[in-house]
Amino acid sequence: MSWLEEGWRHVWLPYAQMQTAPLPLPVARTQGSRIYLEDGRELIDGIASWWTACHGYNHPHIQAAVVEQLGRLPHVMFGGLAHAPAYHLATRLAALLPGPLNRVFFTDSGSVAVEVAMKIAVQARLNQGERQRTKILAFRGGYHGDTFGTMAICDPEEGMHSLFTGLLAAHPVIALPRTPASLATFELFLEQHAAGLAAIIVEPLVQGAGGMLLHPPKVLRHLRAAADHYGLTLIFDEIFTGFGRTGSMFAFEQAGVVPDIITLSKALTGGTLPLAATIATDALFEAFLSDDPADALMHGPTYMANALGCAAANASLDLFEREPRLAQAAAVSAQLATGLEPCRALPGVADVRVLGAIGVVELAAIKNPAALRMALVAQGVWVRPFGNILYLTPALTIQVGELDLLCRAIFMVLTDFAGIAT
Ligand SMILES: Cc1ncc(COP(=O)(O)O)c(C=O)c1O
Repeated sequence: MSWLEEGWRHVWLPYAQMQTAPLPLPVARTQGSRIYLEDGRELIDGIASWWTACHGYNHPHIQAAVVEQLGRLPHVMFGGLAHAPAYHLATRLAALLPGPLNRVFFTDSGSVAVEVAMKIAVQARLNQGERQRTKILAFRGGYHGDTFGTMAICDPEEGMHSLFTGLLAAHPVIALPRTPASLATFELFLEQHAAGLAAIIVEPLVQGAGGMLLHPPKVLRHLRAAADHYGLTLIFDEIFTGFGRTGSMFAFEQAGVVPDIITLSKALTGGTLPLAATIATDALFEAFLSDDPADALMHGPTYMANALGCAAANASLDLFEREPRLAQAAAVSAQLATGLEPCRALPGVADVRVLGAIGVVELAAIKNPAALRMALVAQGVWVRPFGNILYLTPALTIQVGELDLLCRAIFMVLTDFAGIAT
């Protein structure tokens, strides 16, 4: 019996109805934008493992840094002990981010980074004696994680956590202020409810897992202005958008506004190890300084600031410094725009949109995502449809020919398999 069949009786897959889930594809190895399967097949990866592997798989510089770190110090607890990779990484992230975003709290997943952001925003108020400001304003279409705290700020109806509606902490989730009508609703909401709010949270420029929904930079400027007006903490969740994905190093740069907290993960380590960071302003950090130990931030995941993860992240930042990643993101963007455009004319296609190195083909409906996925695999590409979209978030280093094959495969599958797709 193979390891796949034996282990299949014991693993529990993400986001999968295990009664009907097909066996996953067994992967033997990865390289660049290629996934090599156990049976000898080779797939061009259109997703970069949930957009983490921004430099492609197995980048030698990241590998060397992790191997070197593994030999010296794989992990020590972060409470009371320090290690250079984490302290260097914190210094580098603070230098990369504007002005007052200076304090880095490390965690091990995106959801927990968002939990920490929520906690910082609320506890800063509590420490200042403002006990009524406990809510986080979030937006429809948003996704911030799968933990109980973050589920409460995801889209409660369209999101994947709707089963839990009514069982989670009650945070307001309203329409993103992107049209005159939703802006008016947003402003009225704040007039009436700002006194109970600690923070506003948004995924800047693109709501990823909610369906790759794009919004213009001016929306972020509205949020910044409103947060300033009502004295709210503005949290940008850049777990998806950070590290070049939207064309700039961070999405917020395109809006010319700076948040009070930013959350980062995914491409932070170039797709090699789990690591996340919540970076807050000096002002928020200072709200935790007092003679009272109870004012401290009581959070400390066991594997926080894992030295291997930090070494990988430092190596990933080296690559952003040394190699033309943002220029590559721009080239990917242009190729996605031309490569996916022909899909617009196909029956069942509702929209084609591109932002940075994110390309989306939205369909009226996808009735059988598993069949669509397998049809794409038969074309030699790894693309994972969800909801009613097919999307590409490839490595920023993907080769022109590889991206061409991905776009063509989507076009061909949507042409040939219209019955499956719509
Ligand atoms: C914007 C955003 N926030 C938070 C998360 C949760 O991150 P993780 O899956 O590492 O917990 C994700 C994951 O897709 C995300 O895209």
